[in-house]
Amino acid sequence: MTRTPHVTLSQYGSLYSESVSDSEGFWRREGGRVDWIKPFTKVKDVNFDLGHVSINWYADGTLNVAANCVDRHLATRGDQTAIIWEPDDPKDAAKHITYKQLHASVCKMANVLESLGVRRGDRVVIYLPMIPEAAYAMLACARIGAIHSIVFAGFSPDALSARINGCDAKLVITADHAPRGGRATALKSNTDAALLHCKDTVKCLVVKRTGGQTTWIDGRDYDCGEMMLEASDISHPAEMNAEDPLFILYTSGSTGQPKGVVHTSGGYLTYAAMTHEIVFDYHDGDVFWCTADVGWVTGHSYIVYGPLANGATTIMFEGVPTYPDASRFWQVCEKHKVNQFYTAPTAIRALMGQGKSFVEGCDLSDLKVLGTVGEPINPEAWNWYNDVVGKGKCPIVDTWWQTETGGHLMTPLPGAHEMKPGSAMKPFFGIKPMVLEPASGEVLEGNDVEGVLVIADSWPGQMRTIWGDHERFEKTYFSDYKGYYFTGDGCKRDADGDYWITGRVDDVINVSGHRMGTAEVESALVAHAKVAEAAVVGYPHAIKGQGIYCYVTLMNGEEPSDELYQELRKWVRTEIGPIASPDLIQWAPGLPKTRSGKIMRRILRKIAEDDFATLGDTSTLADPTVVTDLITNRMNKQ
Ligand code: WTA
Repeated sequence: MTRTPHVTLSQYGSLYSESVSDSEGFWRREGGRVDWIKPFTKVKDVNFDLGHVSINWYADGTLNVAANCVDRHLATRGDQTAIIWEPDDPKDAAKHITYKQLHASVCKMANVLESLGVRRGDRVVIYLPMIPEAAYAMLACARIGAIHSIVFAGFSPDALSARINGCDAKLVITADHAPRGGRATALKSNTDAALLHCKDTVKCLVVKRTGGQTTWIDGRDYDCGEMMLEASDISHPAEMNAEDPLFILYTSGSTGQPKGVVHTSGGYLTYAAMTHEIVFDYHDGDVFWCTADVGWVTGHSYIVYGPLANGATTIMFEGVPTYPDASRFWQVCEKHKVNQFYTAPTAIRALMGQGKSFVEGCDLSDLKVLGTVGEPINPEAWNWYNDVVGKGKCPIVDTWWQTETGGHLMTPLPGAHEMKPGSAMKPFFGIKPMVLEPASGEVLEGNDVEGVLVIADSWPGQMRTIWGDHERFEKTYFSDYKGYYFTGDGCKRDADGDYWITGRVDDVINVSGHRMGTAEVESALVAHAKVAEAAVVGYPHAIKGQGIYCYVTLMNGEEPSDELYQELRKWVRTEIGPIASPDLIQWAPGLPKTRSGKIMRRILRKIAEDDFATLGDTSTLADPTVVTDLITNRMNKQ
């Protein structure tokens, strides 16, 4: 790196101290990243006390998020590319969309939404492939003050209808088909199936991505392309309050159905823009590529809101890392002269397995910073990323964060921090991580400690509530450890004071960087007529990080068979989506339970890990022979 990084080690030290000792002053200054319509006077108003949790940032300011991501760049960089769209098939041409063109499309889409009756505060579900229309739709919602909720295109019709109903959406935006890796998912027909379970009034706006055949219901389905052609490109951005919701994003928790994480406008945008600039050491003119899907929070913050707020050129990639072959990521980096590249460990592991020849054929000399997110990265993958992709010259930012946090909370900063393979290293500005003793909640001071990770104070990008269920919000995040935000992650602070995320401590698993609640997979399984009971745990998987391991007890009279095994896998795929497909099913005549009937997952996890020696305390088991049977079956691999 020849240029000066935004933050050096000594600057990190002094700025971090300021950010935690004078949080108000620090965030007042950072609030200046946003163009406010009415400037804020109040910076922060936060309460983490159970029963009174409320989080407000810049609360009396007003702004429009879309105007910040688009309009404000028109005068200085109207002809600069805002979005480079790289299609699934490399033989098709990439699209370069300038800020001016982005502005026109967002305004048109905003007018289309309004003509379909969408108003300020209404919810719009977006179920789209990685196409520019996804960004137009997000920004168009923001422009008129509607709240978007993106559902990843890999989710099933059932998962889609649950989310449409969960936030009582007025409109769903989808596409005919979603090409990915040379195959196409029939999104419109999925949406048709989902809408059977939604209110009759929900409308459907369809982007014709492939032009393939779909069914069409007049009066409910609308052609997005046709409507945009006719729509005006003049649209006035609504004046929104800093605390008005910008989006809802459903994510998995340890219990029950997915929860709608709510992010608001002013604080979220400030935090997304700031972390994008500092963590990736983004400089004006850089080409930034985050390979995530906009269906996840990573895509929200680091494909759309952060980069566009900073006037960056951001890449939107429709395809997968291995299509047409394992060089695709690197081909795209070469073709678009990518400067910052941000992906997930699971992708790195998969590509590593294909050998380095796929990387070596490509010119990666423009790369300056590499990033990873979503799950802990193992040293072997880290080293490959560093040596083979980064040629030892690109800092790797291992960014730890969550859907709930809106942006990065812990990461090394390029140019400031030393890097240790697998360590998230240091807190970002304003973030006060603490490690607690899990059972007592006692604060573990000093270094060389391990426990659960909590955050002691708020930051502007923090989620504000769970849509429609503030009580669940408080209970999930603020009840286990009083006065702190509980992350659900375990964490170690090493002898040097650097942080290592050790993985979830709750019943959330991380499969290929996709977050999943074991409870969701269990309820899908027990919805099958032949299943009496199911328990699901994660187990170590070489590529996916964690795989989905299901213990299934069949109804009386049902017999295990290969056909049933396949049928159950398919069943879960249709109930939730392909990302939830079980990797292993073990037939379990019984499940280990306490005398009060609670399933002892700790033991099931150990069995799935083939770790039979350290099952821990089994004295509370109602029937210890259940465990012996499961172990015997596991050892025989059934
Ligand atoms: C895990 C993704 C280790 C963690 C942005 C967290 C990580 C969950 C890292 C959130 C990382 C994310 N190192 N673990 N760099 N980044 N995680 O909500 O367990 O999809 O709680 O947000 O992913 O997943 P989510």
